[in-house]
Amino acid sequence: MYRFLRPLLFRLDAEDAHSWGVRAARLGQRAGWATRRLNARADPRLAQTVWGRRFRSPLGLAAGFDKNAELVRFWAELGFGFAEVGSVSALPSVGNARPRAFRLPSDGALVNRMGLNNDGADAVAERLASTSRPPGFVVGVNVAKTHSPDILGDAGIEDFRHSVRVLAPHADYLAINVSCPNTAEGKTFETPDALDALLHAIALEVGTGGAPPVVVKWSPPATAGIDVGAMDELVEIALGHGVRGFITSNTASDRDGLVTGASEIERIGNGGLSGRPLAARSKALTRHLYRTTDGTVPIVGVGGIDSAEEAYERVRAGASLLQVYTGLVYQGPGLVGQIHRGLIRLLDRDGLDALQDAVGADA
Ligand code: FNR
Repeated sequence: MYRFLRPLLFRLDAEDAHSWGVRAARLGQRAGWATRRLNARADPRLAQTVWGRRFRSPLGLAAGFDKNAELVRFWAELGFGFAEVGSVSALPSVGNARPRAFRLPSDGALVNRMGLNNDGADAVAERLASTSRPPGFVVGVNVAKTHSPDILGDAGIEDFRHSVRVLAPHADYLAINVSCPNTAEGKTFETPDALDALLHAIALEVGTGGAPPVVVKWSPPATAGIDVGAMDELVEIALGHGVRGFITSNTASDRDGLVTGASEIERIGNGGLSGRPLAARSKALTRHLYRTTDGTVPIVGVGGIDSAEEAYERVRAGASLLQVYTGLVYQGPGLVGQIHRGLIRLLDRDGLDALQDAVGADA
């Protein structure tokens, strides 16, 4: 079905196409029957327990698709094991001026500079509180700093703290977006001092008993490779503050290795690059973090996953969980079942009983 819809959707501006997709999903969510046809539940061999929670599938929706947690039941019905809603910030934001999302079809990529548009932490917390959670479905909440160049330093940390305070009670895990390339001030929290101060404050806010696990979402490494010293320092800081997982990775600010022409890239302008061009570097960071932590810290692999083969490689590089965004735009909702079925085929090929036996096999 998506094969027929895609050419129509791709005639629209990327954000308009997204809005139509969301509208259709909302209808599907309400009607139930519409999504049941797409249902692509995972085989029990793909289930795992991560952070003490049962994930019925390792495949989740990446942050940014459902920023305001409006479609949680839809993602569950589509067959995903989990969804990461957000990024949510303390204050609501309309984001950057449009157009702010662009397709690069010959690269299987997108560029976006949405600018953290979202309804704000209080509204999203309320929505999550009134949404019945599908049984066995995990909901992560991704938080980011409010998109404003006036909220900096201590005010930026207070901003994060507010989101964490109101959203933690509704989150199965909290993802801290320290790597958004589209901040109003053009900075991420990926310097040792900034990360240390932020994670210290967040650890105080979440406390211990019963708090959801906190995971950190990193930028992808440069195409040239990982700056091992800098990365290891950040990892040590994160673990020192009780961080229990990593998401590898967010979008990239560079445009390295694209086949899309220079004039088109220039026309599009700034923003985070997602999709296939991220695959190799996100995978390299997954592998590096798995090795550095001896496989003791669960990793969510994301960036350019658009097939079962790519998903399986990411697992073998060290990811326990996986997420997709751009792959879903190019391939449609059928991608979920396709990855589930393909993973079972690849486990059989390698004589493995369960997906967890493949995690880190090639790290
Ligand atoms: C994103 N991504 C993202 N990440 C995040 O932590 N918070 C966010 O609000 C967003 N917003 C967002 C919007 C759009 C339009 C895109 C394409 C992406 C990044 C996303 O979660 C993921 O990390 C990257 O897109 C890499 O995965 P894919 O797209 O290659 O599967």
